[in-house]
Amino acid sequence: MQNTTIVTCALPYANGDIHLGHMVEHIQADIWVRFQKMHQRRCYFICADDTHGTPIMLKAEQQGITPEQLIEAYYKAHTADFAGFGIAYDHFYTTNSPENKFVAYDIYNKLKANDKIAVKTISQLFDEEKQMFLPDRFVKGTCPKCKSEDQYGDNCEKCGTTYAPTDLINPFSVVSGSTPVLRESEHYFYKLSGAGNFLASWLGTSGRLQSEAKNKMQEWLEGGLQDWDISRDKPYFGFEIPDAPGKYFYVWLDAPVGYLSSFMHFCTQNGLDFNQLWNAEDTEIYHFIGKDILYFHALFWPAVLHDAGYRTPNGLFVHGFLTVDGQKMSKSRGTFITARSFLDSGINPEFYRYYIASKLTSKFEDIDLSFDDFVARINSELVGKFVNIAARSAGFMAKRFNNQLAGELATYITTDNLAQYQTIIERILVIRYELADLYQSREFSKAIKLIMSAVDEVNQYVDQVKPWLLAKDEAQQAQLHLVCTTLINAFRVLSIYLKPVVPNLVGKIEAFLNIPALTWVDLDSLLLNHAINDYSHLITRVEVAQINNLIELNKVVAPPEDAPQTQLALKSSYEAIAETISIDDFSKIDLRVAKIVAASHVKGADKLIQLTLDLGNEQRNVFAGIKSAYDPADLVGKHTVMVANLAARKMKFGMSEGMVLAASFEDKDCGLYILEPHAGAQAGMRVR
Ligand code: MSP
Ligand code: ZN
Repeated sequence: MQNTTIVTCALPYANGDIHLGHMVEHIQADIWVRFQKMHQRRCYFICADDTHGTPIMLKAEQQGITPEQLIEAYYKAHTADFAGFGIAYDHFYTTNSPENKFVAYDIYNKLKANDKIAVKTISQLFDEEKQMFLPDRFVKGTCPKCKSEDQYGDNCEKCGTTYAPTDLINPFSVVSGSTPVLRESEHYFYKLSGAGNFLASWLGTSGRLQSEAKNKMQEWLEGGLQDWDISRDKPYFGFEIPDAPGKYFYVWLDAPVGYLSSFMHFCTQNGLDFNQLWNAEDTEIYHFIGKDILYFHALFWPAVLHDAGYRTPNGLFVHGFLTVDGQKMSKSRGTFITARSFLDSGINPEFYRYYIASKLTSKFEDIDLSFDDFVARINSELVGKFVNIAARSAGFMAKRFNNQLAGELATYITTDNLAQYQTIIERILVIRYELADLYQSREFSKAIKLIMSAVDEVNQYVDQVKPWLLAKDEAQQAQLHLVCTTLINAFRVLSIYLKPVVPNLVGKIEAFLNIPALTWVDLDSLLLNHAINDYSHLITRVEVAQINNLIELNKVVAPPEDAPQTQLALKSSYEAIAETISIDDFSKIDLRVAKIVAASHVKGADKLIQLTLDLGNEQRNVFAGIKSAYDPADLVGKHTVMVANLAARKMKFGMSEGMVLAASFEDKDCGLYILEPHAGAQAGMRVR
């Protein structure tokens, strides 16, 4: 029987949007899985949302909804984002599932039975107002080393020192603002300290990890292993520990269990035997992860599995981080780009897949998204060189030959020493084995280079045989037919090569060629004596304006320096919904899209910004109370929404002729955000 490969990506947290950084991982794994599937290998691609923990609990509370509602909303968003980028999961589940609870309990009970669980009393900072223990990231205070204020409880962003939250000077709870106190509590620990020998041999087995990752882990091992705290006290959103009321599994205990439980759910749904598939000798399990979570996957996860009598994964494929134009992704620069905004921008998501593929190696170095490079590469390689091969032959095929391919190929006429190849097809088929090795070993950047060298050769061939000249010569029609048939076949071979990277584009090509889904074995055959369809446009160039628009969409105006940005809005911030009105009442308010053409501070006013708003056919002067949240320079050029028929009001500084709309809680310290319509809205449009 054929062996099985199970592939996973790290489970994204269910409290944030998927961004282009996450997408690097999902694209990398998706390309690899598609490559396996194109070889008819049995490969399952599994993921889930990681739904437990304090941040998720608090975010739900802040939004006045239950954690279940929050994770449901993110489930929808995440699965839509992945589908949008062509990430073809066989199953995408959730860690807040009965299967996950079942397996987490089973693992825990087995650890306990094997004497791998210890109970120890620890003291931790406690928020008396919220009645909860505070994770390190929920305590802030002054750095004990450099005395910078407003630093997190685990390390200082200014000087880089790491410390315990109890070391902070003047600590405060991010949740309530109160001063936390030290309190004791019993915690459950997994005895990782006893797993050293097992881990050394696990890490030493070939193929487990890339060498850089292995070295890092070995350093950690040599540094000595500490027992791992796997419990958290209530209130916590997660699984309560069996026989320990009020104690919950720390999210990182049940998160990787999600790999297993998601696959289990998939098997149940599809009538497959989970135990057989998961545990078979020749089943291989690979986790694609980022370098930041290597520790969890290379130490805790295999050790826990092993000590609970479960099988361990065959290998971890670790990747680096995405930077944008050489810098860490940043919300204020607009480079913290969400998957959703990319999908909404109109830029083909497969261009991103192609670009990322062209950068990825099997190492875990960071990769950079440079937008100039992105635009140049897509337009020159995918649009200019690859798709152009079809465009250069399809017109003749339709007009001269009724879209019917000839019964043979044109022989390869060349003046150089490549004459050993009978046809250009033979020539570009030479790389197929090398290319397959590159895909298999995740050397995608080299794979793309190799494919592009074949694309270049085909274009050189076109320049040599000059079909446009053949077309002018009556006597050369048969030759033209052979050449066009050859080019269509070359295009088909190159499409197979590129299919793991740009599957939707190749889907369109399959429709154009009038053939079923291409697989790797199709490289063994040619397309001859076959009717293709009329060529229709496959992809459009990417424009710099689209990129600029995308960055604008992602620019988040930084909250004012002095606002307590760490203070989360609590449920009590929610105002009751106002009295019901009729549609007639509503239509009395004339809301308009306005363009901010000028913005300035107002001398002597500590809350106001003076705005000049363009309504398409007139301009208004408006004083807006948004100084605490915005720098005038960041507003100019943006569109917003104003009440255009509000009676003008005389203020100390002049007439205010309308009002801009802004969102806030009653307590303005929780932030103030002016409205901005989606790209494309124009000044003067009515909002209704
Ligand atoms: N929930 C955990 C993983 C649990 S796995 C059992 C988590 N989630 S995450 O949403 O923060 O990150 C998910 C994955 O995205 C991780 O592998 C992480 O390394 C990756 N990335 C997050 N930001 C990234 C970049 N900027 N660049 C590349 N990958 C990045 O960690
Ligand atoms: Zn410091």
